[in-house]
Amino acid sequence: MSQIIPASAHLESVPDDGIAVVIGATGGIGGAFVRALEKSRRFARVVAAGRSNEHRLDIRDPDAVAAFAESLAGERVRLVIDATGFLHDETRMPEKSWRDINAQDMAYSYAVNAIGPALLMQHLLPLLPREGKSAFVTLSAKVGSIGDNRIGGWYAYRAAKAALNQIVRCAAIELGRRWREAICVAMHPGTVHTPLTQPFAKNGLNVREPDEAAAEMLAVIDALTAEESGGFFDYRGERLPW
Ligand SMILES: NC(=O)c1ccc[n+]([C@@H]2O[C@H](COP(=O)([O-])OP(=O)(O)OC[C@H]3O[C@@H](n4cnc5c(N)ncnc54)[C@H](OP(=O)(O)O)[C@@H]3O)[C@@H](O)[C@H]2O)c1
Repeated sequence: MSQIIPASAHLESVPDDGIAVVIGATGGIGGAFVRALEKSRRFARVVAAGRSNEHRLDIRDPDAVAAFAESLAGERVRLVIDATGFLHDETRMPEKSWRDINAQDMAYSYAVNAIGPALLMQHLLPLLPREGKSAFVTLSAKVGSIGDNRIGGWYAYRAAKAALNQIVRCAAIELGRRWREAICVAMHPGTVHTPLTQPFAKNGLNVREPDEAAAEMLAVIDALTAEESGGFFDYRGERLPW
C-alpha cells in the first residue's frame, strides 16, 4: 500500500488567506481539530459547527446544510473537516449478527454517516477557491473498507462508511474537473479515545487521544496533493483498500 509521507501539522502547504470549517466540532476528534487549527494560525478564523454550538447544524437537514453554506458564501474556504459520525447511542448499538438488522436504525446511520456528508460536499465543495491548495476531508473508518472486512458485523456503520467512500470518490472526480488544486479525501483517524469508541475500546488496542490524532491527520493533509484527491487514507498517510 502506498503512503503519503506526513509533512507537519502547520499546514504550510495551504495558503494562509482563508478560513477553516469543522463540522462535528462538538465531537472528540472534531473538537481536537478546532483546537489544532486555531493554534496553527493559518486561518483568519475557524468556523466550528455542530448540533449544539454557535454555528448550529444538523447534517440530516438538507435546508440547514444549504443555509450553513450560504452563511459562508464570499469567504475563502481553504479547509473543511467533516468530523461528524454515528456509531451508537443509548438505544442503538452496532449489529453483531444479521438478526440485529433494523431498518430504521440502518436508515439513521446512512443519514448521518453517508447522506449528511454528501450534502456537505454538495454545498461546501463549490466554496473552495479555484487557485491554490484547498481540501475537504471527511472522517470515514477503516471498518468501511470492504477489502479489509474479515470479521463482519456492524452492518449499518460499515455499509454507510463504504457508501461515504464512494461518495468521496465521485465528488473528487467532479471537483478535479474544475478545481485543479483542490482535494477531497476520506480519512481513517485510527482508534481514538472519544464517546464513539468508549464502549468498544479494548485493552491492547492502540487507542490515541484526540489531540494526537488530529495533529497526525493534519500532517497527512499538509502532505496531500491534488493527485491523491479521491483517496482513502489513514492517519499515517497510508492508502487503505476500498
Ligand atoms: N473515535 C474513533 O476511534 C474513530 C475510528 C474510526 C472512525 N471514526 C470517525 O471519526 C469521526 C469522529 O468521531 P468521534 O470519535 O470524534 O465521535 P464523537 O465524539 O461521537 O463525535 C461525533 C460528532 O458527530 C456529530 N454528529 C452526529 N450526528 C450529527 C448530525 N446529525 N448532525 C451534525 N453532527 C452530528 C456529533 O454531534 P453531537 O455532539 O451533537 O452529537 C459529534 O460532534 C466519525 O465519522 C467516526 O465515524 C472515529
